[in-house]
Amino acid sequence: MSKPQDMIRLENVTFAYPGGEPVLKDVSFCIPEGESRVIMGQSGSGKSTILKLLLGLYKPDSGDVCIDDEHVSDFTEKQLSDVRKKMGMVFQDGALFDSLTVGENVGFYLIEHSDMTIEQVEEKVREMLGFVRLEESIMDRMPEELSGGMQRRVAIARALLATAPKIMLYDEPTTGLDPESSTQVLHLMDQLTRERNIATIVVTHQFLDALAIADKFILIDKGSVAFDGSLPDLQSSSDKRVLTFLEPFRASLKLMERRQFV
Ligand SMILES: Nc1ncnc2c1ncn2[C@@H]1O[C@H](COP(=O)(O)OP(=O)(O)OP(=O)(O)O)[C@@H](O)[C@H]1O
Ligand SMILES: [Mg+2]
Repeated sequence: MSKPQDMIRLENVTFAYPGGEPVLKDVSFCIPEGESRVIMGQSGSGKSTILKLLLGLYKPDSGDVCIDDEHVSDFTEKQLSDVRKKMGMVFQDGALFDSLTVGENVGFYLIEHSDMTIEQVEEKVREMLGFVRLEESIMDRMPEELSGGMQRRVAIARALLATAPKIMLYDEPTTGLDPESSTQVLHLMDQLTRERNIATIVVTHQFLDALAIADKFILIDKGSVAFDGSLPDLQSSSDKRVLTFLEPFRASLKLMERRQFV
């Protein structure tokens, strides 16, 4: 069987925000289509910055960002906007438009950028709400009337309708959700990765959620990749940065192993 193509590749990326010290230092990793990576690391280690570079919101100072085998680091805004059509992004807070209904939020891109009629857009929105297991009847509700988990699923539905993505980026998708809502969102993310062959990055502090969806883990420590590999390799790593990161989770991991959850 041929090796799946890398959808995302960072090669020796170094980046500083204007006027600041480097927040990413020589970061390299790749993600083939249909695979997921969970990016973990302390607050401020540079995780969200990696997502911003992938979206082309910032350019690396050195190194290269490749999306679907294209070197996007030198792309113009017009070229970037084409690349972004391959990427769906779900932000930490769902980032829905407060003043628009759920239906308008999900259909936003099609309303703005396609010549579909309102009826056609509504049909697509209904279909997508069904896919993320939300009732059609919430179409006319406002985002603030929904629970956090529902808002997150609306955000995923919107990302899917906007981009038909080959890549999905999630920043803290389960933070603040109750366990049941978290499970639903995780299941949906996993389904998208497998069934649509999407390359997925999930940035999360929720290590136990990460175990449910990650093919592999990337640990960022102060802007550098401290680990990139499988769970068994993570658990047996003797790298000091990995040991420090895993320390708070050791007890849960042991319990899960004993009960054969992982
Ligand atoms: N727009 C910005 N301008 C200047 N510095 C920034 C900007 N955004 C982030 N930083 C700095 O870059 C570093 C990395 O931030 P980043 O948001 O990538 O961290 P993170 O790993 O996502 O943290 P968290 O887990 O808290 O979300 C931090 O030191 C932060 O203060
Ligand atoms: Mg962040």
